[in-house]
Amino acid sequence: MKAIFGPVLFHLLLFCAAPTFGVRIQSVPAVTSDGVIQTELERTVSLVCQLDAGHETPVDDELVWLRNGQAVSLTEGNKKGRSSVCVTPIIYKDNGATFTCHLSKNVTVTASVTLNVTYHPQLSGLEEVEVEEEAELVLRCDSWANPPVSSLSWTLNGSVVDLTVGRFSLTNDGCTSQLSANLVEKGLHEGTYQCIATSPIYGESSRQFRVTVTEKTLKLPLYPIIAGVVVVCLTGLLAVVSRWTKISKCCR
Ligand SMILES: *[C@@H]1O[C@H](CO)[C@@H](O)[C@H](O)[C@H]1NC(C)=O
Ligand SMILES: *[C@@H]1O[C@H](CO)[C@@H](O)[C@H](O)[C@H]1NC(C)=O
Ligand SMILES: *[C@@H]1O[C@H](CO)[C@@H](O)[C@H](O)[C@H]1NC(C)=O
Repeated sequence: MKAIFGPVLFHLLLFCAAPTFGVRIQSVPAVTSDGVIQTELERTVSLVCQLDAGHETPVDDELVWLRNGQAVSLTEGNKKGRSSVCVTPIIYKDNGATFTCHLSKNVTVTASVTLNVTYHPQLSGLEEVEVEEEAELVLRCDSWANPPVSSLSWTLNGSVVDLTVGRFSLTNDGCTSQLSANLVEKGLHEGTYQCIATSPIYGESSRQFRVTVTEKTLKLPLYPIIAGVVVVCLTGLLAVVSRWTKISKCCR
């Protein structure tokens, strides 16, 4: 019985408590009707929490701010009746952060807002890439954005990369789009690559890569050398050990 009535009672309490009197959050930029503040990286968001007009400020009560449930430290003069918090500069981590203001003695007198930080993928510039023939070519582009990009495409010399030729493979984990090709060939893989991301609100952004395929250099076969060195050392050690047994036999 308890298990069934507990949540019901809780919701009933919340419902009854909400409309009577409360605190209100105002902000620059303004809060939308669904309690969201739209902002962008590097901007400033200022939040002001106030007791509703017409309500007497409880003399002994203070306002408390929480960011994602953690108390925000406030200066002394910034707690009675009206309290402000400034978030600047806005960073990636502020996206989705919830700011809650409540009376310190009555947590049911509360209001919350959530930040929606929008940004486009960080794509720009030109990178020079050198890759040896027969090695692996790996190109990466940031695709992390809010709202998510609506498309991300790769081109080579201006036309969409054909995954069916040139041993290309394409992966995207939501943060990074990666185009790779193994056993690089000059004729197939050299050229100018571009990744183009399209954001539903910011439009296109892109990054270029100028890929040069260089001749294969002869690498020293390292493992056989190590093996050889080990064998020489072991032989030496064995020689010393067998000599040592002889020596100690003589001394006995
Ligand atoms: C807390 O606030 C609610 C909503 O206004 C009110 O109904 C309730 O009596 C208050 N509780 C206390 C302990 O002051
Ligand atoms: C954040 O803003 C973007 C762009 O206006 C919108 O597409 C997205 O739905 C918003 N997200 C939230 C959680 O409000
Ligand atoms: C791309 O263009 C460059 C320069 O014109 C050319 O050398 C290269 O072979 C081209 N790459 C492909 C794969 O066609």
